Amino acid sequence: MIFTPIQTPFETSGAHARVMLVDAARFETLEEKALLEAYGFKPKSEAGVYFPHSKTVYVGCDSFEADELRLAAAKAWELLKASTCKVVYVEDCADIGALVEGFELGSYQFTAYKSKNDPVHLEEVRIATAASDATEQIQKARTIANATNYAKEVVNTIPNDYTPVRMADDAMKLSALEGVTCKVYDEHFLEEQGMEAFLAVNRASVHPPRLIHLTYTPKEPAKKRVIFVGKGLTYDSGGLSLKPGDSMVTMKADKSGGAAALGILKGAAELGLAIEVHAIIGATENMIGGNAYKPDDVLKAKNGTTIEVRNTDAEGRLVLADCLCYAQGFKPDILVDMATLTGACVVAVGEYTTGVMGHNQALIGSLHSAAAMSGELTGSLHFNRYLKKLLKSSVADISNISSSRYGGAITAGLFLDTFIEEEYKQKWIHLDIAGPAYVEKPWGYNQTGASGAGVRMNLYWLDALAKEVN
Ligand code: BES
Ligand code: ZN
Ligand code: ZN
Repeated sequence: MIFTPIQTPFETSGAHARVMLVDAARFETLEEKALLEAYGFKPKSEAGVYFPHSKTVYVGCDSFEADELRLAAAKAWELLKASTCKVVYVEDCADIGALVEGFELGSYQFTAYKSKNDPVHLEEVRIATAASDATEQIQKARTIANATNYAKEVVNTIPNDYTPVRMADDAMKLSALEGVTCKVYDEHFLEEQGMEAFLAVNRASVHPPRLIHLTYTPKEPAKKRVIFVGKGLTYDSGGLSLKPGDSMVTMKADKSGGAAALGILKGAAELGLAIEVHAIIGATENMIGGNAYKPDDVLKAKNGTTIEVRNTDAEGRLVLADCLCYAQGFKPDILVDMATLTGACVVAVGEYTTGVMGHNQALIGSLHSAAAMSGELTGSLHFNRYLKKLLKSSVADISNISSSRYGGAITAGLFLDTFIEEEYKQKWIHLDIAGPAYVEKPWGYNQTGASGAGVRMNLYWLDALAKEVN
């Protein structure tokens, strides 16, 4: 989609239709108010109607705050998509970036496996604005939304096509971006590194594992080094602790943490942020077979910690344990891992929200603020010593599952915590995106399928960190 800032009124703009953002106050002033009422329109978020006779798309808004504008833009696109309108005009609005994000995110469609697609005519959005930096605002918003849509595409691609090797190929392609380099490591490297936990998860898969390491180095001196570690399970069958059939469907989305890391790196490089960003992804499948790793096995992670396997479906934490050990070798100022780690997190915070865990409340607070601006939902889950004790094992240093059925999102976070060295405890944040990463019923501006969870909040955060003085 093309976005053009424009300073002329609708009548002379050359657009085929216009979008009117309508809150309660503006509703009172509308000429077509009575007709809108007859159509059941309310000046409320997620309401909308297209009147071809007056070439107007009316979209309701609770307020004109950023996320309301994203929702409104996505609604406008939905109303226009079946029409023949090619160029649409949007009345002046306070945050043109949010509007652009709404259009880009809301218009994403995953069509790779459809033999026929409905034609979409809308090509251009002309935005009435007097802002002198309108072009920059538009470009930035497009970059962030496109990085999110890129992550969606990765997650939506089916497990038969999207193998660890394919993920590594995609990562390699990102090294065409300025300042980006990519290293890909295979199973021999994992063996040399003593990453037995990661390797065990891969063992019954016909697809070899890949450890992907992307680095973006800015032109100007970097203010910080931020490392993102992503869970890249290209399929999670549960392994021998096999998932029930219904729960296995959507497990192509178990690579969402890795996909988010790819999207963040792409976005950071395209924005040219003054932050050194790394994306480290553990890519593998979790499958069954005669050589599968088993409940009762004991595995030794890269840092020497021994892990008793009691459930092979708690595989993400095993892969992340080794990847987190590897990542700390690069001395991050901030270390963030992202994973569709637990169903328990979805129970705890709901399917729209990312669970945020860590030790540094100030750091977590700054991420929450950035997330709120980006429109992503986050909620804190708190560690405590009693939950930590539930990971005790009688045969190894730690068990890969808790002995209690309660608090599973936090005990998974605490499992990862044992692989964080003292020096990095205050620098580390764990994001459980199991809920929002994959959308089963459309909500907000998210279609069914992947949402790109984690990309926007972290790009907003990196952008804020890059602007901090000191
Ligand atoms: N990938 C799943 C978590 C998940 C569940 C993501 C639902 C998205 C939606 C993870 O590997 C898993 O299976 N976790 C287990 C952990 C349990 C065995 C302690 C779970 O959540 O049931
Ligand atoms: Zn699992
Ligand atoms: Zn998993």
